[in-house]
Amino acid sequence: MNFTDIQNLEDAFQIATYKKMQIAVERGAGCWIWTSDGEKYLDLYGGHAVCATGHSHPHVVNAIKEQAEKVLFYSNLVYSEIRGRAAEKLVSVAPNTLTKAFFCNSGTEANENAMRMARMATCREKIVSFSGGFHGRTADSISATFLGKYRKIGEPNVPHHVEALFGDIENCRSVIDDQTAGVILEPIQSMAGVREAEPAFFRQLRELCDERGAVLIFDEVQTGIGRTGNWFFGGSELADLVEPDIITLAKSLGSGVPVGACLVNDAVSASIKENDLGTTFGGGMIAMAAVLATLEAIEFDGMLANAKRVEQHLRDSLAGMRGVVGVFGKGCLLGIEFDQPSSAAHSKLLGNKIITGTSSNPNVLRLLPPLCVTNDEIGMLVEALTEGS
Ligand SMILES: Cc1ncc(COP(=O)(O)O)c(C=O)c1O
Repeated sequence: MNFTDIQNLEDAFQIATYKKMQIAVERGAGCWIWTSDGEKYLDLYGGHAVCATGHSHPHVVNAIKEQAEKVLFYSNLVYSEIRGRAAEKLVSVAPNTLTKAFFCNSGTEANENAMRMARMATCREKIVSFSGGFHGRTADSISATFLGKYRKIGEPNVPHHVEALFGDIENCRSVIDDQTAGVILEPIQSMAGVREAEPAFFRQLRELCDERGAVLIFDEVQTGIGRTGNWFFGGSELADLVEPDIITLAKSLGSGVPVGACLVNDAVSASIKENDLGTTFGGGMIAMAAVLATLEAIEFDGMLANAKRVEQHLRDSLAGMRGVVGVFGKGCLLGIEFDQPSSAAHSKLLGNKIITGTSSNPNVLRLLPPLCVTNDEIGMLVEALTEGS
């Protein structure tokens, strides 16, 4: 089918919820996708921060194929070797204190479960989250989302959600109290325009949560699974080595197969009893094969080190470029701030067949490329930005 036929077909039978690019994706490999019209695009947005291992990484594809031929699915009512191995591998790369996984299907579901666990562990109700943070679109997650229009879309919101200021520990001291069950934050606020906090903030927040008895949750739906050049933000030097009580994951975790997870420490997991949490699809075999293979591919291909290299290359290449105010973020979660709306750069790049993302900060262009992106591919972005400027 050509592009127009595909567009007409999709539009005829789906609610128009997204402003789509005028292309139809047919196949992908590494950082590249090919369209129905045979055009090739450099994907520096990674399918919405999902394709960490690159499009259709052969190791992930083979693992899914092999699993599909054995059994597609059985729920958590039975044991499964692939589920056990995926959980073991995920816990092995997690910060030391996070010893148990709970699998679900998406980022918002991981956050819903994390907040529920915080309430169960503390017998309290209040959840503190941060201005500029995004946590998903289901009831509790959207109520914890103090970013632009989202919380309003979710009205009526779940009660007992309170906003704090990201990076401002004095403000946190006035908001987090002995009624607070959990504190949830994106350690790098991606959608808000790749906003960062000082490592010391995470140390102070950890101490405050300990002092007031609140569960600390890092929403690493974007920052997790190697995105920053570390397996996780939590436990890394970016967080001053601070380990949260729960890390939530999705996006990159299955290289595109829908899967979410909560990684949980002993104190929290000890408060969860049989039937407190549940899911039909979470922990299904196809998703588990994808998780295990994703983690292996990142490891085998040295993608953590690559993410750090690529960040440095981009920073060096953009230093002093006219119109660029700054580069924010870590590894393969990067924001380029311009001195004018980034929509101009976004359209120019798309015209050059390079896909990037915008953010809720109009001047910030977001890059969320696969972790296997090369310096040469980043060079293509830089060249396209420089052209005619
Ligand atoms: C930081 C963060 N948390 C949670 C979510 C929600 O994830 P999902 O769309 O898989 O529900 C997103 C999605 O963009 C996100 O960026």
